[in-house]
Amino acid sequence: MNKITATAPGKCILFGEHAVVYGYTAIVSTIEINSTCSIQMTRKSQIRWNFPNFGNKFEISIENLVNDPEYLSKISNNPFFQFYFLLNQIISDFNLNPKGMEITVSSNLWSNSGLGSSASTACAYVKALDEFFLLNLSQEQLNRFAYSMEKFVHGNPSGIDNTVITQGGLLKYKGPNFSQITGIPRIPLLIIDSGISHSTAEAVNKVRKFKEKSPEIVGEIFQKIEEISNQGISALKKGNIDELGNLFRRNQTLLEKLDLSNPTIGKIIEIGKELGIYGVKITGAGMGGALIAVDSEEKLQKFQKRLKIDRFRTLLTYIGK
Ligand code: PMV
Repeated sequence: MNKITATAPGKCILFGEHAVVYGYTAIVSTIEINSTCSIQMTRKSQIRWNFPNFGNKFEISIENLVNDPEYLSKISNNPFFQFYFLLNQIISDFNLNPKGMEITVSSNLWSNSGLGSSASTACAYVKALDEFFLLNLSQEQLNRFAYSMEKFVHGNPSGIDNTVITQGGLLKYKGPNFSQITGIPRIPLLIIDSGISHSTAEAVNKVRKFKEKSPEIVGEIFQKIEEISNQGISALKKGNIDELGNLFRRNQTLLEKLDLSNPTIGKIIEIGKELGIYGVKITGAGMGGALIAVDSEEKLQKFQKRLKIDRFRTLLTYIGK
């Protein structure tokens, strides 16, 4: 069999991160930066996974590719365990008889930064397995398998990442329900890497503790975020960049109240303000990771140049059509 290659995009949350974990609305879009998974059949009686972004490899003989509890406990600490888990799950669900395989999973997304690299690689992987084993999975099945991998990485994620990545485009997400937002004009978006790797589980835990301690304060913050998310939909449909910028800024202020910012994020926001760019916010879990900025393409290019001086990585991308 020829080599199979599947890709999946990354994502960024425009509005509503964290609140979405508690059932509030979030707005999320795929971005034009991809992850790739390729699968090649081999003559060896082993499965090998390659993760070139991490310089890591992981192999298992076909005879060990069974639900042997002792063997599973030995490898369960492997950071790529979810790839093994999913293959095993698919083999048992569809009663497959796997042969030797060489699997390579890579991503152009910055990892641990809020751009959905784990969900994106999971979706590319599930799509490649679907094609390789001719399973003809529905979108719902693809999403469910990708979510089961996400749970290994993030504990109890809202499911927003795997859902938008399997659906594509822009979504209004109120877990587990979602609807596609259509008719959005092409809007430029600058993605900025704060350079600080974050842990989604840690950030979600921090908000959970705050909510347990001060349910009314956090409930009020989430309610305001919900309003911003809903206003965001009409600003997106109108392609109104000023309004979007204003909503980004208000959402960011509320994320700061949840203590998800830090001095580096603050510095990036200040640099934006010096250039007259006010629509800058965390995307995803915060405490580091990526930020997004919305403004005219020209101003975002200036922002990009200015951030380069301070060695911040940036990517100019687009949402909408
Ligand atoms: O930083 P990311 O891409 O893992 O996004 C996390 C988004 C949260 O709302 C904070 C958590 C979730 O599960 O939705």
